[in-house]
Amino acid sequence: METTAPGAPTTNDAGIPVASDEHSLTQGPGGGILLHDAYLIEKMAQFNRERVPERVVHAKGGGAFGEFRVTGDVSAYTRAALFQPGTTTPVLARFSTVAGESGTPDTWRDPRGFSLKFYTSEGNYDLVGNNTPVFFVKDPLKFQDFIRSQKRRADTHLRDHDMQWDFWTLSPESAHQVTWLMGDRGIPRTWRHMNGYGSHTFQWIDAEGKRTWVKYHFTTDQGAEFFTQDEADQMASIDTDYHIRDLSEHIRDGEFPSWTLSVQLMPDEDAAGYRFNPFDVTKVWPHSDYPLHEVGKLTLNRNPENYFAEIEQAAFEPSNMVPGIGVSPDKMLLGRMFSYADAHRYRIGANYAQLPVNHATSPVNSYAKDGAMRYSNPGDPVYAPNSYGGPAADPQRAGHTGRWDAGGEPVRAAYEQHAEDDDWGQARSLLNDVMDEDARGRFVDNVVGHLLNGVSDAVLTRAFAYWDAVDGEIGRRIREGVSAKQDLTDPKAEEQGNSARSSAQHKA
Ligand code: HEM
Repeated sequence: METTAPGAPTTNDAGIPVASDEHSLTQGPGGGILLHDAYLIEKMAQFNRERVPERVVHAKGGGAFGEFRVTGDVSAYTRAALFQPGTTTPVLARFSTVAGESGTPDTWRDPRGFSLKFYTSEGNYDLVGNNTPVFFVKDPLKFQDFIRSQKRRADTHLRDHDMQWDFWTLSPESAHQVTWLMGDRGIPRTWRHMNGYGSHTFQWIDAEGKRTWVKYHFTTDQGAEFFTQDEADQMASIDTDYHIRDLSEHIRDGEFPSWTLSVQLMPDEDAAGYRFNPFDVTKVWPHSDYPLHEVGKLTLNRNPENYFAEIEQAAFEPSNMVPGIGVSPDKMLLGRMFSYADAHRYRIGANYAQLPVNHATSPVNSYAKDGAMRYSNPGDPVYAPNSYGGPAADPQRAGHTGRWDAGGEPVRAAYEQHAEDDDWGQARSLLNDVMDEDARGRFVDNVVGHLLNGVSDAVLTRAFAYWDAVDGEIGRRIREGVSAKQDLTDPKAEEQGNSARSSAQHKA
């Protein structure tokens, strides 16, 4: 075990006491440095390898440990051990922004990641959601392009609102999530003050194999609060790490944040005829159709002691599903089943699952062996099936796997349309039924501010049409807001517009 215990002699990584913390080995005080100063070489080499690649998305974040306690009874819907009445399960949570690199301000407008790892008695269950119940795209083939449009240009290495609106307006399925993003919930005041969602539709499976479709909602017990754009801009210049600091200081002071988990449950037989395609992650299920059922309470009560070991190297993967929980025909979820473990093998290394933060607290009886940085290795037998008493798969323990009635030829096609499926309707009800007039005013200001930052005329025209399609009145207010501000622009400044606008682009 490595320590920096007070008073202990410094050693090298092999535990051998070193002669100096300050002086390299030289041929006389002014002479050349000797190559056989193995300690100096070890320090330089280790330093050069200190960083692992940051997450390709959700790079800036923080987290804490806690517990999930079941308070309701959903045992009729899932046999998952962690959701059985009376169960308490240790949890790791990590919150993050999406597009910014590690080190970017916590208060930029962006969805927030809401990742949970439940260390259950039947293996790790990871729920890797966001603070929004919907997403920008609905096919995993578009995810990479979407993220590139949010990140940096190839030429200038700058973020660019023109690419963001170019992609969004060419992808009308983004309208619901963009409406959410440009509204008040686009900048949570702190991580403690935001809700979390599993976003996708998942499958719950009971002891007999009966399936129910489920959506997860973690409602903040601190109350949902947000920053206005101005407050967030100010905070970005005062404290780039405001959200990490807020969480860690509250936990340090014993003010433990908590969330109430409720679920929406859809009987399997409802899915085909429901007015929205229930597996489309750009849509919500209105609560009037499927009300919330309380399941339990998530509380965060322990800060990490070592950020790199416990948060940076944490590996959350939607494919970590325990018996009683399965996938749905949500194409994004199905794509994510591959992506995360692959990312972890690259970002952390082949044996990332052996790190303490990622290791299950229940027994791991896997035949996986060897590979870089393997910490503990199973012995013989090294294969299955075998006649030497090695682990054997137990279908009873694994339970029924998630399934649904899929059929047909392989195709590349959009989802089947349900009665009320379109790209604009739910965005419109978010604006008109959920936001009040003050919130709509802030929404229009946020969109106008964003569009005025380096968006080309052609893309601007498409953005106006996009908002017109969501809601004619909102479209008009956005168009008028943009042209009013454009009219105020000094023509000289307008000539140099592109560079000035793009340098300010991240602010809106
Ligand atoms: C992180 C891929 C959609 C939430 C990541 C990472 C990858 C990825 C590669 C980095 C993982 C790591 O290095 O540890 C994808 C793909 C998607 C997708 C391919 C679509 C096909 C989504 C959706 C959500 C989401 C729909 C939310 C509903 C997150 C979160 C993290 C993350 C919260 C950060 C995990 C952490 O805290 O370590 N994603 N993602 N992603 N993604 Fe996705």
